[in-house]
Amino acid sequence: MNQPTKARILPDELLREFAQRFGTPLYVYDAATLLARATELLDARASDGRGFDFVRYAQKANPNLALLELLREHGVLVDAVSSGELVRARSAGYAPHQIQFCADLFDRDTLARLGAEPFAVNVGSPDMLEQLAAVPSATREVTLRVNPGFGHGHDAKVSTGGSTSKHGIWHEALPSAVLRARRHGLEVVGLHVHIGSGSDLENLTRSGAALEAAARVVGASLESISAGGGLPVPYRANEARFDLQKHVEFWCGVRARIEGQLQRRIDLELEPGRYLVAECGLLLSEVRGLKRNGEHEYVLVDAGFHNLVRPAMYGAWHDISVLGRDNEPHEPFLVAGPLCESADVFTQGKGGAPLPRELPRPRIGDLVCLHDAGAYGAAMASNYNSQLLAAEVLVEHSEARLVRQRQSFEHLLEAELRCRR
Ligand SMILES: Cc1ncc(COP(=O)(O)O)c(C=O)c1O
Repeated sequence: MNQPTKARILPDELLREFAQRFGTPLYVYDAATLLARATELLDARASDGRGFDFVRYAQKANPNLALLELLREHGVLVDAVSSGELVRARSAGYAPHQIQFCADLFDRDTLARLGAEPFAVNVGSPDMLEQLAAVPSATREVTLRVNPGFGHGHDAKVSTGGSTSKHGIWHEALPSAVLRARRHGLEVVGLHVHIGSGSDLENLTRSGAALEAAARVVGASLESISAGGGLPVPYRANEARFDLQKHVEFWCGVRARIEGQLQRRIDLELEPGRYLVAECGLLLSEVRGLKRNGEHEYVLVDAGFHNLVRPAMYGAWHDISVLGRDNEPHEPFLVAGPLCESADVFTQGKGGAPLPRELPRPRIGDLVCLHDAGAYGAAMASNYNSQLLAAEVLVEHSEARLVRQRQSFEHLLEAELRCRR
């Protein structure tokens, strides 16, 4: 029996036209899917009638300016984990106060930017407190990222809590961090927790108790709490969707208890990356060959882990479909890219185990879709093997706009300085 795959987000005729017009490999994003996710999060309501006061996009998942602009217009705030992301968010039209810098260290360039514009800051390590306080015109209000002592994600590499994670201020060190902030003239106005990426409801809600305890430490100056991101998406056709209703219910409960404790209103924030952008994007690639090596038959496509590294890095699953062949009989194939690297295979499990995928037999020239590639796809792309970064296209109101040009070879070499000429 043919394995079901998720439906393609856009009609085949359109995808074929894009491949012709823009070439492959090509990232294609659907604005309607993106905005549907944003609306879902902004509109989520618990039984107390309240929801997330702010949804803040973790742009690391996909920092394309066009997506940032769409989310900004839709009322979604943004976070930044580097100077580059501060610059991007500003360039997408965000005002400094709508952008929160969130990291475990300040590099010197970031400190200079925090001194020049009133960005919000979420502090992930105690040493950052003095460093921020020493910048004359930087914000004097901070939020603290708490490491609650445990983490969880779709892979151990993306767990961001517990002692094996570098992230956040260790929960037991919070009282001393709060005193340290105050000694340096900083007011702690917010608390934040983010235990990992692609987690599940059970683990994502475990950190509620840690935030309640942390709120008791901070006391009267607290104005907001952030539940972080980490919300999973269904990468497989038969996977259940995340229960957003239970999530909002749980976090509104946490917020209500903290409000009861402190006798004041507290804003509740959510900070998703993947949940907003994963499903709006696909990676389109062309079949360039087929071959059998021993017991495995390979489909060779022109996209590789320089475009989408999640399978090679985490053993992550992306549904794969072949345009125009959904109803043909399926056979097991490994789908591999052009890189001179054995790990350049999209059909692998954790530790690199080959996982043959049931697919229709493609022909050379067929178009293959890697589904749900909008998050941590283009964002993690590289120039490995001197491959060019792919073009990116956004479809909005049935119109396609190139939102990233395919990189050129001139651009690839431009920053390199020769010793001999
Ligand atoms: C601080 C912070 N917030 C939010 C996110 C977004 O995570 P996700 O894309 O899983 O929602 C991340 C990514 O790990 C993060 O480090």
